[in-house]
Amino acid sequence: MAEERFSITPEKKRERCVTGIDGLDTILNGGIPRGNSVLITGSCGTGKTTMSLEFLVHGALAGEKCLFVSVTESSLKMLNNVVPYDFFEERLIDEGLLSFVDMPDIYEEMDILHKSEFSFDEINGVVKRLDDIVAEKGIKRLVIDSITSVCFQLKTQEKIRDFILNLMKTLSARGCTSLLVSEISPEAERYSLYGVEEAIADGIILMGNLERQGDLLRTLQVVKMRGTEHSRAKYVLDLTPVGVLLVPLLKGGGLEGGD
Ligand SMILES: Nc1ncnc2c1ncn2[C@@H]1O[C@H](COP(=O)(O)OP(=O)(O)OP(=O)(O)O)[C@@H](O)[C@H]1O
Ligand SMILES: [Mg+2]
Repeated sequence: MAEERFSITPEKKRERCVTGIDGLDTILNGGIPRGNSVLITGSCGTGKTTMSLEFLVHGALAGEKCLFVSVTESSLKMLNNVVPYDFFEERLIDEGLLSFVDMPDIYEEMDILHKSEFSFDEINGVVKRLDDIVAEKGIKRLVIDSITSVCFQLKTQEKIRDFILNLMKTLSARGCTSLLVSEISPEAERYSLYGVEEAIADGIILMGNLERQGDLLRTLQVVKMRGTEHSRAKYVLDLTPVGVLLVPLLKGGGLEGGD
């Protein structure tokens, strides 16, 4: 066929990683282009961890190997977060479809746990460890919660750039789609703490808070996503026992005045 002569995959043809999150796959025209590294960015309590876990559970339910890398909180605590959901099934863990790794355990193995700053070699070593796990388990979906916490120990923009570029290249080569959680302050005018992450990432999903009639709504907006057309509209995000629900922040009606 004529198009097979071209090495560049047309946007419409790129295989999608279906998130399974209500509304998000529609916003993304079918899902996240497979192999993309997406920054999930927002201030505290906006639902970053919950949505990332749900992305993994849907992958595991579809038979994909999924990994949650916990940086600040223990993976046991993360597991407790996901158990109450209606869609969660314990067999996913028993069958090795959903697994958890604590980043401090990786640091400990590498004897860098108590270092305040990592060298280029050390951070490349961390990426290598993650790659080994991804390759060994055949991981297709990965979440790092949070990438900001890893960057605390890198200090310089140069190291952060090197780390994220290396991580993204490594995961993409394995056909692994990743969500990198990024923490920003509510009044931040950019999408990542260091500014480097947002420029490199294949996609940015911005989670926020919006005060409406005395209620604090959670919002979600896809700011960029390489490899697909997508809506850039702001959606209201509802955290329910059946998972994340996304509803357009319509002009008019009760949610009038979206900015
Ligand atoms: N199933 C649920 N139903 C209703 N509310 C929920 C549910 N799950 C979580 N929440 C609420 O959502 C809040 C934020 O969720 P989450 O921890 O995912 O946000 P986050 O952006 O990761 O926060 P942080 O920046 O603190 O890590 C929780 O504190 C909890 O109150
Ligand atoms: Mg969180």
